[in-house]
Amino acid sequence: MKDKINKLLSAIQEISINTTAELDEFRLKYLSKKGEINNLFNDFRNVSAEERKEVGQLINNLKQLAQDKFTTVKESLLYAQAVDVTEDYTKSSEPLNTGSRHPISQTRREIVEIFSRMGFTVAEGPEIEDDWHVFSGLNFPEEHPARDMQDTFFINKSPDILLRTHTSSVQVRTMEKNQPPIRQIFPGRVFRNEAISARSHCIFHQIEGLYIDKDVSFADLKQTLLIFAKEFFGPDTSIRLRPSFFPFTEPSAEMDVSCSICGGKGCNVCKYTGFLEILGCGMVDPNVLEASNIDSKQYTGFAFGMGIERITMLKYQIKDIRYFFENDIRFLKQFSKF
Ligand code: PHE
Repeated sequence: MKDKINKLLSAIQEISINTTAELDEFRLKYLSKKGEINNLFNDFRNVSAEERKEVGQLINNLKQLAQDKFTTVKESLLYAQAVDVTEDYTKSSEPLNTGSRHPISQTRREIVEIFSRMGFTVAEGPEIEDDWHVFSGLNFPEEHPARDMQDTFFINKSPDILLRTHTSSVQVRTMEKNQPPIRQIFPGRVFRNEAISARSHCIFHQIEGLYIDKDVSFADLKQTLLIFAKEFFGPDTSIRLRPSFFPFTEPSAEMDVSCSICGGKGCNVCKYTGFLEILGCGMVDPNVLEASNIDSKQYTGFAFGMGIERITMLKYQIKDIRYFFENDIRFLKQFSKF
């Protein structure tokens, strides 16, 4: 009897069950009413009284083993049916076409990041402005040509409501609300009533910088812009300041960077000058400080403004400003960082 039990035990342990048909076979053979284990219980009647306890336990163990094997295999077969285990479910179903930041946004972020390392914080102002913040508060004379209908999109005439033509308007808003020290940059969209061509657009982006404190000098302006140019265009970049004019700065300058294409030797991108013009800047005119109630005897400051499209075009050698507004995937894809 014991021999029979042990044989059945090892048979059950060794049997391998891979399909539901095999599982059913197993159940019929061992666990059904007429199965081998139940038959053992019939034989049990003939076991001598001394052996009963031991044999009874052996049969119970055997039954338990068969039952356990049946449920374990049943569960794993059910699971395999529910999920096709030959598939890798961690794989994505399709190669995903993810979007990326627009090159203008990338450049703006890069510029903001460089200036924030120099202690500048970011502020923004409205795109629809009044005459005061775009012109009068910035020391534009009454008859200045920049107020002309040809440059400015007017929404309303007297009182003048217009689309800002430069981000310098945010300078005025900041100075109205804060006393120095002020160290901020103002990125934003600007609008000019100009014909659209490869080089100019009626909508573009600028980033403006303003630093006002005691003893701010032209040397501070120059050093700040040199650091920016090296960070943005590369460590070998040099700068050149040329005298210029803006109503709101005195003295004023335009800044060129050495041409990153030819390294300053002269090529068709820099028109054989070795330099590329990138921004306007200067010391904030005392009239501008006073117009916003900042004491020009105590404080001085510098300001600068640059076109984001322009420096993106220079950095990546983009020949036409209109690409930025067309949203052609083939163009945008080239700036994808993924
Ligand atoms: N606002 C000027 C422009 O749009 C740029 C500028 C900003 C110049 C600040 C000097 C100081 O051209």
